[in-house]
Amino acid sequence: MALALVTGAARGIGRATAARLVSAGYEVIVADLDGAAAETTASEIGAKAAQVDVADEASVAAVAAGISDLAVLVNNAGMYLPGKLADVTTEHFHKVFDVNVLGPLLMTRHLADALAANGGGAVVNVASMSAFMPVPGTGVYSMAKAAVASYTEAAALEYAPRGIRVNAVAPGRISTEMTADRQGDPAREARTNALIPLGRSGLAEDVAEAICALATGAAYVTGQVLRVDGGLTINTVPLLQAAQSGGI
Ligand SMILES: NC(=O)c1ccc[n+]([C@@H]2O[C@H](COP(=O)([O-])OP(=O)(O)OC[C@H]3O[C@@H](n4cnc5c(N)ncnc54)[C@H](O)[C@@H]3O)[C@@H](O)[C@H]2O)c1
Repeated sequence: MALALVTGAARGIGRATAARLVSAGYEVIVADLDGAAAETTASEIGAKAAQVDVADEASVAAVAAGISDLAVLVNNAGMYLPGKLADVTTEHFHKVFDVNVLGPLLMTRHLADALAANGGGAVVNVASMSAFMPVPGTGVYSMAKAAVASYTEAAALEYAPRGIRVNAVAPGRISTEMTADRQGDPAREARTNALIPLGRSGLAEDVAEAICALATGAAYVTGQVLRVDGGLTINTVPLLQAAQSGGI
């Protein structure tokens, strides 16, 4: 059975992706900073669990040491810290960049031999719509996700000779625990959903579907960043009008 590893898979988009890969017939490792939550999720969806801090090279190396043949790596673990750029400290910068940017780089580097083992596997990174459309008040998160998009292209070029494809998804507004605090107000929700061409926020499963398509069904696609946002980031004229009228 081919092996897949998903980081940040204890909950949210990562969990949905791991569950979908299990359904597709993969043996899946649910890897997360929260080892207990990873165990729970893994037992619920029929996967294995691993504790990992993607921002800590020793931790990444320890997980990678046990894997010699890997078909799919999903670099999903991510986090954001709120704040204005004017208030961002060096510590804030490193926390966000270490998880979102250094994490995918370390995971891919330490698992590259395993990904190349059977003629080449696939990596899918999780960027964000904020890579293209910075969200005020989210500190350096937009910068970090732009770096993930750029890293995806650079890694695709570097790893192509080893048969490893590297792509990314850029989710839009997705309902998960990460965004729960920003999605509580029904009136605001309705205004936002009206700006999404497909008329609703996304589900973790919507993103999981796109990740799995890139990982398992796109043999001639590499270095691409697929927007999974219901059309939100191309809906620029209504977004501008809403901003002008104070609607967002
Ligand atoms: N939810 C959204 O609207 C949205 C939009 C765009 C992009 N994203 C991105 O999608 C990914 C998943 O988001 P989500 O909403 O499911 O988040 P979430 O907060 O619900 O889940 C993130 C998971 O990552 C784990 N994690 C955090 N730091 C880690 C680390 N250092 N090492 C290993 N695991 C770690 C957490 O324990 C958690 O289980 C993230 O990269 C996020 O930036 C989310």
